[in-house]
Amino acid sequence: MKKSVDGRKVAIIGCGFVGSATAFTLMQSGLFSEMVLVDVDRNRAEGEALDISHGMPFASPMNIYAGDYDDLADAAIVVVTAGANQQPGETRLDLVHKNVGIFKSIIPEIAKRGFGGILLVVSNPVDILTYVALKLSGLPEDRVIGSGTVLDTARFKNILGEHLGVDPRNVHARIIGEHGDSEIAVWSLANVSGIPVNDFCEMRGHFEHEESMQRIAEDVKNSAYEIIAKKKATYYGIAMAVKRICEAIVRDEKPILPVSNYQNGGEYGLDDVVLSLPAVVGKDGIEYRVPAPINEEELAALQASAAKLKDVIAELDLD
Ligand SMILES: NC(=O)c1ccc[n+]([C@@H]2O[C@H](COP(=O)([O-])OP(=O)(O)OC[C@H]3O[C@@H](n4cnc5c(N)ncnc54)[C@H](O)[C@@H]3O)[C@@H](O)[C@H]2O)c1
Repeated sequence: MKKSVDGRKVAIIGCGFVGSATAFTLMQSGLFSEMVLVDVDRNRAEGEALDISHGMPFASPMNIYAGDYDDLADAAIVVVTAGANQQPGETRLDLVHKNVGIFKSIIPEIAKRGFGGILLVVSNPVDILTYVALKLSGLPEDRVIGSGTVLDTARFKNILGEHLGVDPRNVHARIIGEHGDSEIAVWSLANVSGIPVNDFCEMRGHFEHEESMQRIAEDVKNSAYEIIAKKKATYYGIAMAVKRICEAIVRDEKPILPVSNYQNGGEYGLDDVVLSLPAVVGKDGIEYRVPAPINEEELAALQASAAKLKDVIAELDLD
């Protein structure tokens, strides 16, 4: 039976670099009054809970503790960051078999407790694992989402903002598709406060559009590889992206975010696959899949990205 949900409670499964940075960011956000940390390494979860709770006198009150699956059934959001991370030179898809195995031990534990909230997958490859979480949990498709290209989109806005000397919050641009090597920068809709991006580039003295677009999209795509080569893991940017998604859900803000979500039918011709496309996100998870009018070239790249993910899905054993 579906459990009722405590809107002020969040759980994080996996307390490594990403899980602990997310816990710290969520503690500071004041969005929740209770946070459960779960890890196969119980000491790790206990250590993180203790460490973060020592910041409590400087933040909004929150009960933060190490727990297990019985503790998370009534959470509004369960964030899953458990699993192996990329090593230098590895792609996200290289992690698939290891992390699908880990998800087989985690997701049924959540589902059998009648979890009634939103399942937010962060572990990589995030699109494949969101698909796996959807199938293994039996939860409705709108309540199982992945962080997807919310982080890549933030990187895109940041790099474009730097290039143009403008606040990244005024840059309206998006990465869609796989959170990985086949992701797509949607240049056809990119704008700065309503001004088409190429026009704004020219206002700021940049005229080599093709060259800049290629370089910026490559920089976004390669961000994680660069960070991993330099400091072994990425975690602050993703922690802030997770905070943004949690905010959208618990405050029912309904922003349009490129979260990873189930696609089956619709105007892009995608079926039975999970990847990032813009969606209105609120208290019930995905509230509306926004049909963004991308151009033909972007649509072809999106379909190729979906085909690549479907090839991986076809090889999974989800029984
Ligand atoms: N989606 C994104 O944008 C994004 C960004 C960065 C990292 N990631 C992904 O997040 C995941 C975690 O990365 P990390 O750097 O924190 O790795 P990490 O190795 O530091 O942490 C992984 C944690 O998962 C725990 N764990 C393993 N199996 C478990 C299980 N069955 N149940 C509970 N906990 C378990 C481990 O004990 C460890 O504490 C990786 O898959 C990484 O690729 C995703």
